[in-house]
Amino acid sequence: MASSIGSAPAKIILFGEHAVVYGRPAIAVPVNKLSASVEITANPELNPGVVHLIAPDIHLKSDLHDLSSDHPLRAAIQVFMAYADIKVLPACTIKISSTIPVASGMGSGAAVTVALLRSLAGFLNAAIPEKILSELTFEVEKIYHGTPSGIDNTVITYNMPVYFVKGEAPQTFGVAQPIHIVIGDTGIASSTAAAVGDVRKGWLTDPPRFESMFDAIGEISRAARRAIEDGHIQQLGKLMNDNQAVLQDLGVSSPELNTLIDAARFAGALGAKLSGGGRGGNMIALVNASKIDDVCGELHAAGAHQTFSTIVK
Ligand code: MEV
Repeated sequence: MASSIGSAPAKIILFGEHAVVYGRPAIAVPVNKLSASVEITANPELNPGVVHLIAPDIHLKSDLHDLSSDHPLRAAIQVFMAYADIKVLPACTIKISSTIPVASGMGSGAAVTVALLRSLAGFLNAAIPEKILSELTFEVEKIYHGTPSGIDNTVITYNMPVYFVKGEAPQTFGVAQPIHIVIGDTGIASSTAAAVGDVRKGWLTDPPRFESMFDAIGEISRAARRAIEDGHIQQLGKLMNDNQAVLQDLGVSSPELNTLIDAARFAGALGAKLSGGGRGGNMIALVNASKIDDVCGELHAAGAHQTFSTIVK
């Protein structure tokens, strides 16, 4: 194919981050307003194997062979070539763009990988089933954050709400009433790998304490699934606050996240918590539709870098 485009959405974790790495359930949903997109264009005048990469959002302009071997973009291309049994790529330019804030807990890395793999599959006329796409993305995710649970690649590949337990097939669930979520970005880039690594250090130091926090989060995720399926929105808000309390005990919140979470609750959110790895990145608030503007306004006043809203239905 002379050119090909692939895309993938952002994601937020509604419940269960960190504990999901330790086998407890978590709930994540795609955010289609924000996405990564990859366009590949053939350069038939150049020699096979000459691959230009352009990613203006991260100021990257490079030839593929000049990227370090553990660079996630190079890794994504390599896992795809191994899967499709391709030794040399046709000469091409790969242009990557994304509206997903980087290092913000919204899955920008996984979304770029999924978009890139989809685009490569189209460009090379190689079919790639969703299950394989998710698995290949998981391989690349290991470079981004060491011991991923697999939730990001799953929700982003399948582009549907997921109830996820590590190592099990993802389940989806019914949403009895539309759920309105406001997302507030602290503007602070945060490494998921570092947050996950610190939680691991804590767990290794005091396993019973951390296991009981993971259990508490697992119970919250189970209860949240029931509340979503039954349309108990007030209850869901309370569960978000409960989840945030345990995340604070885990040590993955931050003063900036706490400020935004307090601001959202003050403006009438039914519940609020950090979303993703924590330490920086994004928080989410569950709101009635009539409160979206109030909560966004209060978040901006409290220092949010940007806000988004999304509906889960
Ligand atoms: C990252 O979006 C969610 C974490 O639970 C890590 C993971 O599940 O891989 C923090």
